[in-house]
Amino acid sequence: MTKASAPGKVILLGEHAAVYGRPALAAPVQAVRAHAEVLPLDEDRVKVEAHEVGVDTYLDEMPDTHPLGKAIRLSIKEAQASGGFQVSVASDIPPASGLGSSAAVSVAIIRAVCEHFEHELGADRVAQMAFEVEMLHHGDPSGIDNTVVAFEIPVLFVKGEEPRPLGVTGRFQFVIGDTGEPSPTKELVTMLRGRWAGDTEFVDALFDSIGELTNQAAACIGRGEIGNLGPLMNHDQTLLETLGVSSPSLDRLIRAARDAGALGAKLSGAGGGGIMIALVDDSSLEAVDTALREAGAVRTIQTEIGQ
Ligand code: PMV
Repeated sequence: MTKASAPGKVILLGEHAAVYGRPALAAPVQAVRAHAEVLPLDEDRVKVEAHEVGVDTYLDEMPDTHPLGKAIRLSIKEAQASGGFQVSVASDIPPASGLGSSAAVSVAIIRAVCEHFEHELGADRVAQMAFEVEMLHHGDPSGIDNTVVAFEIPVLFVKGEEPRPLGVTGRFQFVIGDTGEPSPTKELVTMLRGRWAGDTEFVDALFDSIGELTNQAAACIGRGEIGNLGPLMNHDQTLLETLGVSSPSLDRLIRAARDAGALGAKLSGAGGGGIMIALVDDSSLEAVDTALREAGAVRTIQTEIGQ
């Protein structure tokens, strides 16, 4: 049996603007992971099991548009795999929440199948293959999810460029709050595409501002300036609200985090629901975590970058 896993991810700043070539910052979330196992099978078919999403079938019965099927087919082609085997998938990353569940599942599958057939893969190739699967989820992904999940390091990401490792001085702690409502990435990216087409100058100016905040945030993180990062996150949230991608439940959690002493808080991922992220220090971490749960978060996850 061959096993592989991949972490969740969180976008620190720059979502949506990333689709339009502006920089974004993202980091792996090690507390939640997707897992894939490959087992030999006594028949000449590929069996696929993902009980959490009701999949128990054979690859040749899965449509081309099924993300799990696509990840397996790409892996078979890449590793020149042959014969029958079984792929089992499980994940503790909440789907459609902004935590990169789909990218993590793809990366775990690609790694498990390729390793099973002794085909070595670099993180860049894994990221490329997972990107092809991401294309099924929304037609115009920036590539940030598959990149950070495949490389498992904090990155400064610009669409179409080599990801740059994000330099971190000191330790930055975050609490993620999950609204429990789905974050419909495709719908929101499509909605913004419409707004951008209708008023390109205005929406581009917002994206430019988000890109500028993101570059400033990368500099703060590189210099260990935790106090300066929070206001940049808050400002980014204001711009995301102007773009129309926040939601009442996200706004409620963001307010609760700030009131409980977070240094900054904003939605993370596509928005509309899903997760928000709060920057905390040792003195505010537990208070923010508790406040988020009291304000209705269905789960909180503590995560950090640096050391
Ligand atoms: O996959 P999500 O929901 O975390 O969204 C990714 C971030 C977006 O910028 C909204 C889309 C993208 O492809 O970059």
